[in-house]
Amino acid sequence: MGAPPDAGPRTRGAGAPQRDEARIVGVDALEDPAELEGLALRIFGDGDRPPGWFARKLRREGVDPALSVVALRPGSEPRDPNGWLGYVLVGTPPSLHPAARTSGTGVVPWARGRGLASRLLDAAAQRCRDAGLRRLQLLARAELVPFYRERGFASLRATVTALGFGEATHPRLVAAPPWRSPRAAERERVAWLPEAWAGTEAHARHGCVTTEDDAALTAWISREGSAWLVQRLLAPPELSLLAAADALRRCLPAGAPVLLPLLDADDPPTRALLEAGWAAAQRGALLERTLAP
Ligand SMILES: CC(C)(COP(=O)(O)OP(=O)(O)OC[C@H]1O[C@@H](n2cnc3c(N)ncnc32)[C@H](O)[C@@H]1OP(=O)(O)O)[C@@H](O)C(=O)NCCC(=O)NCCS
Repeated sequence: MGAPPDAGPRTRGAGAPQRDEARIVGVDALEDPAELEGLALRIFGDGDRPPGWFARKLRREGVDPALSVVALRPGSEPRDPNGWLGYVLVGTPPSLHPAARTSGTGVVPWARGRGLASRLLDAAAQRCRDAGLRRLQLLARAELVPFYRERGFASLRATVTALGFGEATHPRLVAAPPWRSPRAAERERVAWLPEAWAGTEAHARHGCVTTEDDAALTAWISREGSAWLVQRLLAPPELSLLAAADALRRCLPAGAPVLLPLLDADDPPTRALLEAGWAAAQRGALLERTLAP
């Protein structure tokens, strides 16, 4: 039996299971977690996604199938994609240990509003707790922060992803620099997970080593479709975030979107960056639920 047609966000379909009817199992009961790509598209929509995006996401975010959970339509088998109603994917990047971080929470539109996401979050948290993890983190869009707060997550910090555009007619990209610790005279101004960089394919990895006001800065940048994602930026503390970000723009192709992910939205340098014309592409928060042993 195929899933009923999607009825739009947050509608309660007549064929949706009543509360507690859906069965929740580990993603390790599926043949291959990458098969959940079809479910992800039903939940989040097609968007502008390059081929292989889902398997890449699982790899970069260190998704652990044994900690991730999927909800099944009553009576369906874990391996039947038609029975999948929603999921919580959980990643365990070593740099976050003993915290885990979710890599996506979603329910098909017609089954929303019946507590399924809440049950999935509880089930994932239970698996993390049983595995000895202490905290479950997630990144949420601003409008969903109240939803997660009501489900036991506390906000650690407000986040914003800044968007600017490249300015170079002759881009000055170099081979990606080796990953290294910041030097004494450097601060990490943009920091995504080191595991995300390690999981980025070699052909998508680039670097930018440049100077601004005679101060050296180094960036690790990946190509994501038409955009350039600055995964890490090291710059001297005396250089403002705005000066460093604008120097990067001058390295990157004219007109191409440049993203600085997950900046601390309440940090004055971030506010200065946004006041100077970088856009807030996405606002949200990093939240965390403590897992009592
Ligand atoms: C957010 C989502 C996972 C909730 O799933 P669900 O099974 O309907 O969740 P529950 O039934 O446990 O809770 C429902 C609550 O979700 C909240 N909610 C859902 N979508 C929301 C939105 N866009 N904005 C704000 N709150 C929202 C509401 O508080 C709702 O409460 P209500 O039933 O009183 O209206 C689901 O709407 C979804 O998959 N959305 C699209 C994907 C997404 O945005 N995922 C989260 C980011 S990773």
